[in-house]
Amino acid sequence: MGDGTFFARDRGRHPPALTPDYRTSVTRAPARAPISFPPSLSEETGPVFGHDLLGPLDADLIRNFARPGHSAIGPRIFVHGRVLDETGRGVPGALIEVWQANAGGRYRHKKEGYLAPLDPDFGGCGRTISGADGSYAFRTVQPGPYPWPNGGNDWRPAHIHFSIFGSGFAQRLITQMYFEGDPMIPLCPIVRTVPTAEGIDSLTARLDMANTLPMDMRAYRFDLVLRGRRQTLFETRPEGG
Ligand SMILES: [Fe+2]
Repeated sequence: MGDGTFFARDRGRHPPALTPDYRTSVTRAPARAPISFPPSLSEETGPVFGHDLLGPLDADLIRNFARPGHSAIGPRIFVHGRVLDETGRGVPGALIEVWQANAGGRYRHKKEGYLAPLDPDFGGCGRTISGADGSYAFRTVQPGPYPWPNGGNDWRPAHIHFSIFGSGFAQRLITQMYFEGDPMIPLCPIVRTVPTAEGIDSLTARLDMANTLPMDMRAYRFDLVLRGRRQTLFETRPEGG
């Protein structure tokens, strides 16, 4: 993606692989130096999904799992922004997949152990494709914070997981979006692996009252930047790049 200008990854912006306060990083972190190898052409160019596969409710988590006449429980929001390349231009045609806990902080997953209840009308997954100017949007309910077993009394801030697919198999990036003003953000051991306040800021969606739908839903703005000084932090790569 981009105009061919190469922007080297600034590893100082990203979390180190080994951050013992985030306990599972101890076993996940590579014990040996990574080996880099040149990607194959098919990894760079191979299509991995069809843009015509999306259904009409894929970008509407409020309704895409709900029973007829029902909708997900929780604060109604929509999240919107742009996928940008390193020069600030929009990236069209990127597949954006999101997943999240429900408004009580509970995931619909067989290994989920939190006592908060499932919402029968909320699945927690959605997807959309960026438009010609890189813009995207989806509707959902604001997820709740949840506790996680990290050895202490640790809670995740409210967050939405993002996966971005480009046009080839190797172009997948994964990150999380937090909500402006959430007091849980600076307390989270995962957030605290990000070495700079500016890096955490790049993961924080802004309340966007100008685009709020009156009497319906609030808006949050979240731009995703692929490589470059303003790059969003991604968790896909072992080194955190
Ligand atoms: Fe999560």
